[in-house]
Formats: sequence, C-alpha cells, structure tokens
Amino acid sequence: MKKSFGREYKKEFPFEEKYLPLSHGSYGAYPKALQPIIDQYRQRAEQHPDRWNRFEVRELIEDNLKRAATLLRCDPKDLVFDLNASTAANNILRSFPFEEGDKILCYQTAYVNCDKTLEFLQNYKKVELVRINLSYPIEDDDVIRLTREAIERENAKESGKIRLCMLDVITSVPGVCKPYKSLVKLLKEYDILSLVDGAHSLGHVELNLTELDPDFFFANCHKWLFTPRGCTVLYVAKRNQGFIHPTVINYAFQHHPDPTDGSTFKEEHLPGVVDVIPFLCVGPALDYRESIGGEEAICEYNHQLAVEGGKLVANMLGTQVMENSTKTLTANMVNIELPIPSTVKLSDYEITRFFMKKSIFEHNSILNVYKNNGKWWVRLCSQIYLELDDFRLAGEIIIKLLKELEQ
Ligand SMILES: Cc1ncc(COP(=O)(O)O)c(C=O)c1O
Repeated sequence: MKKSFGREYKKEFPFEEKYLPLSHGSYGAYPKALQPIIDQYRQRAEQHPDRWNRFEVRELIEDNLKRAATLLRCDPKDLVFDLNASTAANNILRSFPFEEGDKILCYQTAYVNCDKTLEFLQNYKKVELVRINLSYPIEDDDVIRLTREAIERENAKESGKIRLCMLDVITSVPGVCKPYKSLVKLLKEYDILSLVDGAHSLGHVELNLTELDPDFFFANCHKWLFTPRGCTVLYVAKRNQGFIHPTVINYAFQHHPDPTDGSTFKEEHLPGVVDVIPFLCVGPALDYRESIGGEEAICEYNHQLAVEGGKLVANMLGTQVMENSTKTLTANMVNIELPIPSTVKLSDYEITRFFMKKSIFEHNSILNVYKNNGKWWVRLCSQIYLELDDFRLAGEIIIKLLKELEQ
C-alpha cells in the first residue's frame, strides 16, 4: 500500500532533517529517487562527451518533450526546452517583431524578471506598456472586466495597437490563480496575442493547451513537477513559430518573413553546450509522480492542505486568507494576512528581509512575506512532504517573529 502524503515523504527529498520547506514554489525540489538517473546520465556524458553531445542528447530531449506534451496536452512539435521561465519570457518578447508604438498589456502582478523584460522593450523597441492594477483579493469577473475596460480604453485612442498581453496562470506574489482561460478567450476576441506565464502551473493545476490555444506559453518543470533546476518548457503555437528565436542565436537561425514557417523552430532552440540533464528528468519525474499516486492525487492533496493550512494559520493569527467569493484564488499556495501594526517603523524592504532572514537562519524554514493592497501577507506553499502540523509550526514561527518585530 502506498504511504499517505505528509511528513513521511520528506525523507524522499534531500532536505536537511530539521528544515521546514514552506516555499516550494520559489525553487522547487526533486525527490532522491531521481538521483541515480541523474548520476547515470552524468556518467554517460562524461565518459564519452562526443557521443553524448553529438548523437545521444537530441533524442533524449525529444523523448522528454513528448512526456511534457502529454501533460500539457499539446503537440510535442510545438514544444522546446529553456533553462528557466525568465529565459523563455525573454526569448519570446525579445524576438517578437514589435513595431514602434505597439502596446503590450500586462498586470502589475507580473513576475519581476518578466516585468523588467517588458521595461527593457519599452526602450529597446519603443513599445508602450499598458499596466492593469489588480487589488487582491479580487473576483475573477473583475479581472476580466478590468482587462476588457483597459482594451476598450486603449483601442479608442489614436495611438498604436495592443499586440500582446502577458498574463499568469498562477501569480508569484500574491500566490494566486488568474482566470487565465477566460482571459485568453477575451484576448482572442480583440485579436491580441496571449503570452501565458505558466511558471507555476505544471504539476500544480490541470492544463490543456489544445483547448486553451494560447499564442505563447511557458511552464517550469523545476518548480512543481520535481525536476532539478534549469528546466522549463516553452510552447509556441504553429501560427507564430516563424517569429520566435532564442535570445542566444545558434547555427540553425533563419529569418522567416512568414510567421507560420516553423521549419527551424525546434533546431534553433537546441540548447548548445549547457547542462541538459534537468531536461532529461521530465520523464523520470513524471514516473515518480505516477508511482506515488499520480497527478490528480498529488494536486488534490496539495490543494486541500493549502486550504486547511491557510485557514489554520489565519485562525492562529486572527486574520484572513486571501480569497474571493468564488474561492478561485488558492491552488497550492495560500496567502495569509499578517497583523503587522503601523507602529512598526521599519521600511517595507526591512520587514520583508526581517522575516526572510529570521525564518531561514533562526527557525530553519522560509517565510515569504510581502505587501499587497496596503496589507502584509505571507505566502505558504503546500507540498506532499508537508502536513497540517507543519502549517501549525509556521503559525508559531510567525507569531514569535511578529512579537519580535513589535519590540
Ligand atoms: C510567475 C513567475 N514567472 C516567472 C518566474 C521565473 O522563473 P525562473 O526562476 O525559472 O526564471 C517565476 C519565478 O518564481 C514566477 O513565479
């Protein structure tokens, strides 16, 4: 019989015994079960670098893309690997042929590296950014309404056209789900391309790219899917593959005046001389996940734990979980309000650093604390190696740190 998810599973990961990992969404983690496979690949690579790099790697990469495509429900021909989500965002945004005056729609909750890439484009390609502010907790309908209003407002102006919108499946901070399916549909109505940041999505929520039909999509395997770090899948719809070239150009580059010409898409995205072993761990990570109960069981456990753990910590603090009336915000990350009095005279940066440093160095854990909509929150991630008592411990650490902060 399979063992139940919870602390027993912590031994399956290479964590220090006393470490309480409450921020899986930041850097992910992979199970020890993958280590012999990684070691074997490493040995093969080092024993004969020429055979490995010139002949063996490519087929293995394709095999693993096929495994990822099964989970994403897309054609593996539309999928390539990137080193991380920030690289994937750069590859799309920096190669897409924006014209001066084009507008890009985005949200103030975009992940900082992706947002900074947009800022770079403002100067480099002279595009205009149209940022939509979302005050959480927010209703899904309001996210859609605000997006539609922004589009209508911009379209009514004489200035350039909105070419693309960058949106998340699950935002980093706050750690909340976006109504991304409805948003992609809305963007299609207005002939706006969708760039979907799914960094947190794979191994976290069910995905179906065939149904969603985004223009661009990327997802980290090294966050919730349990591969080693440095593994992201990038999907480009066939209709756009001619547009997209990696930021680091290789021998296969060809300019394609026709955006539907994806003849070099796959080859241009071969990674060159980097460590590709994380890419080869998609299959093994999926096998491991299957062996412990499968995607549905993992996601169900994680979601339930996030909901119950969040409620428990909010009760301990006498505060609230960040949720809306239809309870669509929480997947496996839960955001809990922190009662930090205004008498605390530290800067916002100092408060965030206080929680981060104290939680790591004095409590052997990690508390991701941030300010949103004028209030302080902590983002806690559930995972199969945690249980409700770990959220209780998190609550106790938070209470101690709040007392220290007030002193
Ligand atoms: C929503 C989102 N997008 C992009 C990224 C960047 O991921 P990476 O570290 O793989 O570049 C993150 C990282 O946490 C994220 O949360």
